[in-house]
Amino acid sequence: ADEPLVLGIETSCDETGIGIVRGQTLLANAVASSVEEHARFGGVVPEVASRAHLEAMTPTVERALEQAGLRFSDIDAVAVTAGPGLAGALLVGVAAAKAYALGLGVPLYGVNHLAAHVAVDQLEHGPLPKPSIALLVSGGHSSLLLVPDVARDVISLGSTVDDAAGEAFDKVARVLGLPFPGGPHIDRAAGAGSGSAVAFPRGKYDDGTLDFSFSGLKTAVARWVEAKERAGEPVPVADVAASFQEAVVDVLTRKALQACERYDVKDLLIGGGVAANSRLRALAQERCDAAGVRLRVPRPGLCTDNGAMIAALGSELVSSGVSPSSLEIPADSSL
Ligand code: KG4
Ligand code: ZN
Repeated sequence: ADEPLVLGIETSCDETGIGIVRGQTLLANAVASSVEEHARFGGVVPEVASRAHLEAMTPTVERALEQAGLRFSDIDAVAVTAGPGLAGALLVGVAAAKAYALGLGVPLYGVNHLAAHVAVDQLEHGPLPKPSIALLVSGGHSSLLLVPDVARDVISLGSTVDDAAGEAFDKVARVLGLPFPGGPHIDRAAGAGSGSAVAFPRGKYDDGTLDFSFSGLKTAVARWVEAKERAGEPVPVADVAASFQEAVVDVLTRKALQACERYDVKDLLIGGGVAANSRLRALAQERCDAAGVRLRVPRPGLCTDNGAMIAALGSELVSSGVSPSSLEIPADSSL
């Protein structure tokens, strides 16, 4: 018999993502983003995001079904991000998922957004080795996870104590006069600069934990740039971007490999929007090679928030025999 068709719904932040998978085969991945509506505020505005999800939901579901060449009635299960994320934004996805599951008479799976960032890699690189270590870095989260089994057991080893890595990229970009979201612009600008031009601080570098801190770095960059401006000197944007980026990816890769060593794990996965960063990919590969660790990074379209990741985890829950959620499940912003 065919494996079940799973529809995945993601609305935890500013992307309305609808994905469809059969087993671990990706059939559709439609994303509607409200990022441009947030750009003039320099960050995601929750009210704007919720409204945009509401407007995008039906057309994005239709687009995904069209991509897959399917009808709505073909869907066998519905998975949705139950948390963590923006409360109002999550609520739109959870309400839609309940309505779809109820209308179709199929099971509903409320899933954890972070576990879904891990599960999505299976669509591209096949079954995830058990256990794996996952480094998730985006505008909303920076976490190290031990993943014995993505469907049943995901353990948090550490996370940021202040800003998320992507948030630091976005704030530093703003200081440098680059557009929102700033990560890709810093990545590009850094290509023409030197990562060792300015010695910016690396928070929690040697503190023995697997936590991160980026707000001190962000402040140090802002002070450095202000000092230049006050002195009437030009700001070397490429060098500042490269040196900031080097500080972030140095800490991220150092702690990820410390986690691998501490838990004797030989497989590292990096996901989330910041995983698109070219220097992060290069340094992670270099340090993994040196440590005998295999590195998996999903392609950029699967790293940023999307519905395929939710469908992938939903499908993994179905095949692992995990019980569906009740139709009463809440959206839980701190899940
Ligand atoms: O996963 P994502 O699309 O959304 C969430 O935040 O959940 O991640 C977006 C974040 C933004 O902060 C953006 O600046 C960052 O990922 N980002 C990057 C790059 N591409 C996106 N940061 C560094 N380098 C990049 N190439
Ligand atoms: Zn995310």
